[in-house]
Amino acid sequence: MQHQRVLVLDFGGQYNQLIARRVRDLGVYCDLKPFEMTADQIRAYDPIGIIFTGGPNSVYDTDAPRIDSAVLRLGIPVLGICYGCQLIAHILGGKVEHAASSEYGRREFTLAKESRLFTDIPQKSICWMSHTDLVKELPAGFETLASTQSCPQAIFGNEEKKLYGVQFHPEVVHTEYGNRLLRNFLYRVCGARGDWTVQGFVSEQVEKIRQKVGDGKVLCAMSGGVDSAVAATLVHRAVGDRLTCVFVDHGLHRKNEPEEVLSVFRDGLGMDLIKVDAGELFLSALKGVSDPEQKRKIIGKLFIDVFEKEAKKIGAVDFLVQGTIYSDVVESGKGKSAVIKSHHNVGGLPSVVDFKEIIEPLRELFKDEVRRVGGELGLSDEIVWRQPCPGPALAIRIMGEVTEEKLAILRDADAIFREEIARAGLEKEIWQYFAVLTDSKTVGVQGDFRTYENVIALRAITSVDAMTADWARIPFEVLERVSNRITNEVGHANRVVYDITSKPPATIEWE
Ligand code: XMP
Repeated sequence: MQHQRVLVLDFGGQYNQLIARRVRDLGVYCDLKPFEMTADQIRAYDPIGIIFTGGPNSVYDTDAPRIDSAVLRLGIPVLGICYGCQLIAHILGGKVEHAASSEYGRREFTLAKESRLFTDIPQKSICWMSHTDLVKELPAGFETLASTQSCPQAIFGNEEKKLYGVQFHPEVVHTEYGNRLLRNFLYRVCGARGDWTVQGFVSEQVEKIRQKVGDGKVLCAMSGGVDSAVAATLVHRAVGDRLTCVFVDHGLHRKNEPEEVLSVFRDGLGMDLIKVDAGELFLSALKGVSDPEQKRKIIGKLFIDVFEKEAKKIGAVDFLVQGTIYSDVVESGKGKSAVIKSHHNVGGLPSVVDFKEIIEPLRELFKDEVRRVGGELGLSDEIVWRQPCPGPALAIRIMGEVTEEKLAILRDADAIFREEIARAGLEKEIWQYFAVLTDSKTVGVQGDFRTYENVIALRAITSVDAMTADWARIPFEVLERVSNRITNEVGHANRVVYDITSKPPATIEWE
């Protein structure tokens, strides 16, 4: 059965993916698409509603993203947010004005009229504003639905045509009843049934994969990361022993990672999982190499070589499973350059495996949905909340040459950091956190002795999509415990520093 779908048209706003996630969380499937879609394409897509996102432009900019006015005459409900609301007003003959100063932050808004959008929303509540332009005059047929002190047209609409504009951001948590407003739009205006659920997704995919695979053979490269683990588990649920997984142990994994992969997937789920021990091979290829790009290249190439050798032993397969997720494939409305992050760790595999077709069962899902699917499949929190780890793993978290000794130091320090973050209950708040072994040594004093040992850096960031990031404000007490434990429990480390750089200008990883 086809799900009801909402179309989120992306005008380049910073919260575009967040809007799409909120809609999905409310039980309605949606896709985020570039704003250039034509009215015909939209009609063919057949959404129950359309949301225009915010964006950095003014409607008067010469290169401002626009939309075919016919989109507003399709008879499909539309909710325009921020730039999206100004665009609706502008296209339909209203007036948008450039305000003297920008308005950011919390504002109180007051409802002016009854509306389908306002079920269970109080007369006054707090919203989150972030704009410079604002709608001054409404197009014919529209009325003011809510106002703030400085923004008379905070919400406006044409109830009959089901077209609405909201100047603030209902998708951010600071807007008290934002989720309710979105829910009202979906359920009261668009007639959503709420047919998008994780349980439904799992049973549909299992059925689809089973039909597609038939008697075929399936191969999957397990990296130990969340996406490939969930993809493999889903395919395993569908086809059992027809799936063979290959896990390349390159010796650069975090503490206990290879053991956990074996115990969860081979012993626990009974998967046909082949572990290739290639630690020595990788270490000797990395000997004497300290340039980050060179390290990445050596590891990437060797990974493919090792996998190819293993795939040859298995012989021809019909399908190759990849853990591609929605944020890897979604195109952004910010200009023409689509942001598509390649799967660095498995990118080259299709060329060395003899297969007919790729299966990407998570292609439609956001990361948080992938985690929920993992939970639904019975995977533990430890697996589904596992930290994203880059393909080259600890090799790019050790500055300079990678050696067995350095790997041992970093593994222990990183494990302590992760333990303490979990103990403080912060693992779901911080997007990514890990330790880095710097190539600096400093003087310390331990007991009555002078030491000259390694500096460990801690990196922890908050982010939505890893394209930009901020350093996480971890409580000092937690940092203090981590520092104490690392300097006491990890040999050869006498100093711990915390990285307080955002991305940009830094990247999340140190190399
Ligand atoms: P940067 O360091 O570029 O990282 O800010 C952004 C995100 O991507 C991850 N990352 C990688 N993931 N293979 C991967 O699968 C890689 O080679 C790789 N390099 C960086 C990084 O951990 C962060 O989440």
